[in-house]
Amino acid sequence: MTQQQLLDRANRYFVGGGNGEFRLPSEVNFVVSHGKGSKIYDVDGKEYIDFLLGSGPMILGHCHPQVVEAVQQQILKGTTFMALNEPAIHLAEQVVESVPCGESIRLVVTGSEATMFALRAARAYTGKDKYLRFEGGWHGVNDSVLHGARTLQPGEYPRTAPDGGGIPKSWSQDVLASPFNDIDRARAVIEAYKDELAAIVVEPLQRCILPRPDFFAGLRELATKYGIVLIFDEIVTGFRMAWGGAQERYGTVPDLATFGKTISGGYPMAALCGRGDIMDVMNGWRPADDPKRVIASGTFNGYPIGAAAGLATLDVLRQPGTYERLFAMGDRITREISAMGRELSIPLLVGGEGPVLQVLFTADTEIRDYMSMYRADKRKAFTYGVEMIKRGCFVTPFEKIYLSLVHTDEDINRLLDASREVLRGVIAKM
Ligand SMILES: Cc1ncc(COP(=O)(O)O)c(C=O)c1O
Repeated sequence: MTQQQLLDRANRYFVGGGNGEFRLPSEVNFVVSHGKGSKIYDVDGKEYIDFLLGSGPMILGHCHPQVVEAVQQQILKGTTFMALNEPAIHLAEQVVESVPCGESIRLVVTGSEATMFALRAARAYTGKDKYLRFEGGWHGVNDSVLHGARTLQPGEYPRTAPDGGGIPKSWSQDVLASPFNDIDRARAVIEAYKDELAAIVVEPLQRCILPRPDFFAGLRELATKYGIVLIFDEIVTGFRMAWGGAQERYGTVPDLATFGKTISGGYPMAALCGRGDIMDVMNGWRPADDPKRVIASGTFNGYPIGAAAGLATLDVLRQPGTYERLFAMGDRITREISAMGRELSIPLLVGGEGPVLQVLFTADTEIRDYMSMYRADKRKAFTYGVEMIKRGCFVTPFEKIYLSLVHTDEDINRLLDASREVLRGVIAKM
């Protein structure tokens, strides 16, 4: 079947032509045939350097031989059992022993489940219902975290509203929001609601916004003081920003943390892990009438194939030089695209760091919070993304650039050459 015939069928059968929020405009839409290393190929044979990486999991690129081998071995031993299995136990040990907050763990399937269970555990542990999140953060698709992710009325803290249809308005009672990186505002909300707050949940690199040095230290201090569970959503940052995740890189240890993407090897696998006394609310041996007993179960929890793929991925990431390489690539891209902006008089900032970056077209001097991102020129960002795809660099026109361990210097040269061409030839004229 030709690519156009497949696209026509996708548009006919998938709602909106796709399977979620990710979508490409028709001028650059394509159907993936396969991926290998840092590249993906469409069914017409066009090659793209993949800077989306399946939204992050493919940190070793596509079909990494060690991951393929581990998965093949596991498939021959069986697919799923619900019962304890070897790869799941080894992955559990690896994550708990590597992550500063790790004491015990539950392996689940998606990041959305991990954040849902972490918040549920915090509510059960504290006996309180409310939680504080930060405007513009993303914690998956559960009803409660689709409140205040996108502030409908920017700046109306701590009030939240549903981010989309079908989310009960009643969550606004229990979900509070505050701007990322503003410890004074967060303190004011926390102190006003300290007797009702079960948790504070935060992405330690919120989308592409780096934390200010005082922000997490302040949250940690307030959470400890008032007995609130501090949750780092490390689904993007875990094992990516450092071996011990963002909590290691930014130097604050939360009570609980969620993981996904990197620990999955590209297969469905996620986890929540942290303080043993909090995690213990999920202990299935607690009596059924124990009001603290949290149900955090699932058919595929501890999925052996995902665990085998995750373990193989961590084995590669653990080798010396991993994070130096990821950060060297990211630093070079940041430096060179920032310089292009200055040379061409295009106001822009490169957010994020290391293997997670995002180009924002903005006259601001710092990407500090959601409002900084909100003010950035989305039309230019979209055009930049579309033009990059046309030039064989697969980036999402809405979101981040992800770097993998298998991107080569030549791949980065091509990203930079294409960026220069797009900035000079298209964006400078907008
Ligand atoms: C920070 C963060 N939390 C949670 C999630 C949800 O994970 P999933 O899409 O696996 O449900 C994502 C997904 O992109 C994420 O980036």
